[in-house]
Amino acid sequence: MKILVTGGAGFIGSHTCVVLLESGHEVTVIDNLCNSTAVALERVQELAGKPLRFIEGDVRDRNALDRAFAGGIDAVIHFAALKAVGESCGQPLRYFDNNIGGTISLMQAMEAHSANCLVFSSSATVYGQPDNVPVREDAPLRVTNPYGRTKLVMEQLIRDWCIARSEVSAVLLRYFNPVGAHPSGRIGEDPHGEPNNLMPYIAQVAAGRREYLRVFGNDYPTPDGTGVRDYLHVMDLAEAHAMALQYAAARSGCEVFNLGTGHGYSVLEMVAAFERASGRKVPFEVRSRRLGDIAELTADPSRARDLLGWVARNNLDAMCGDAWRWQKGISP
Ligand code: NAD
Ligand code: UD1
Repeated sequence: MKILVTGGAGFIGSHTCVVLLESGHEVTVIDNLCNSTAVALERVQELAGKPLRFIEGDVRDRNALDRAFAGGIDAVIHFAALKAVGESCGQPLRYFDNNIGGTISLMQAMEAHSANCLVFSSSATVYGQPDNVPVREDAPLRVTNPYGRTKLVMEQLIRDWCIARSEVSAVLLRYFNPVGAHPSGRIGEDPHGEPNNLMPYIAQVAAGRREYLRVFGNDYPTPDGTGVRDYLHVMDLAEAHAMALQYAAARSGCEVFNLGTGHGYSVLEMVAAFERASGRKVPFEVRSRRLGDIAELTADPSRARDLLGWVARNNLDAMCGDAWRWQKGISP
């Protein structure tokens, strides 16, 4: 298939591009590089041994989108979004404009170019504080911050669009906690400034770029008192996108899938696993809970297994080992 990947230079997008190229798809990327660099795309092509087409542009810019769709596109994977929860609380309009505005403009361009198949990056953040874990896709949706609201609204817009246009098919993928890197260590996650998320923070402490990890709370009702999450390897996530494309291309309508392993690890388990993988100490200090955090969030991934045939294959050691290989390569 000819596939347009929005946000393809980013963390998850770049890994997905490698898998798509290796599976024989033709790939066009549109990215405004607001949270990435073109170097990642050079490395994607080097890893896959195949070229891709890159349009540097914004998904809210219709001219840039028209250039991306020129030559025909069969399906779109839509990663392009701003994703920092804290920042979204201070700049909600920027998030609404970029994420929701970008998605509307993308759907308009898809209609104009008769591209009817969409795979969308959603997030477990749409479950807010769930009543039960592991969470199933039919759990109530309740968001707790503007970033989460953009994901929920975008899911709803895409659903309405599918109802209105019987030729359109969409798959909404709710990611849990993507971590790790390509096993080559050539592409990975390198957040600007202080990392918000646990794994890049731990990796920077292990590399000596930060002194210690702050553990946000050890008084949760979990086995060791620290927060439990469902971490999954970014390469497993990338493969899920290739499978979701096949699924969407074969039907119409809108489907939603959780993507996680179904298994939770605590903050302290993550620290121990990273120390094993890196052979480095990861000093930490316990601090108070982070506002808006919950004790435990894990996926029930059985729907993705049953309908997509997708199961996460990489274990925690692979997630930490690959993240460390990438981190070592980018640390001074
Ligand atoms: P990322 O920031 O690394 O990648 C996003 C890419 O989109 C970046 O390259 C950025 O430059 C680009 N972009 C942003 N706005 C754009 C616009 N208006 N036009 C063109 N390009 C634009 O983030 P990621 O971790 O790879 O996340 C990809 C998607 O997955 C996002 O939609 C994110 O919300 C979602 N998601 C991520 C996580 C996670 O933990 N990483 C979890 C759940 C969902
Ligand atoms: C965060 C976002 C969520 C987003 C998800 C994936 C918040 C409140 N939530 O969720 O919307 O979908 O990332 O991108 O930001 N931790 C520490 N020290 C740190 C960082 C994290 O102890 O420096 C702990 C957290 O308290 C949590 C766990 O590590 O228990 C995982 O945190 P994180 O990686 O930020 O992911 P989420 O909290 O799941």
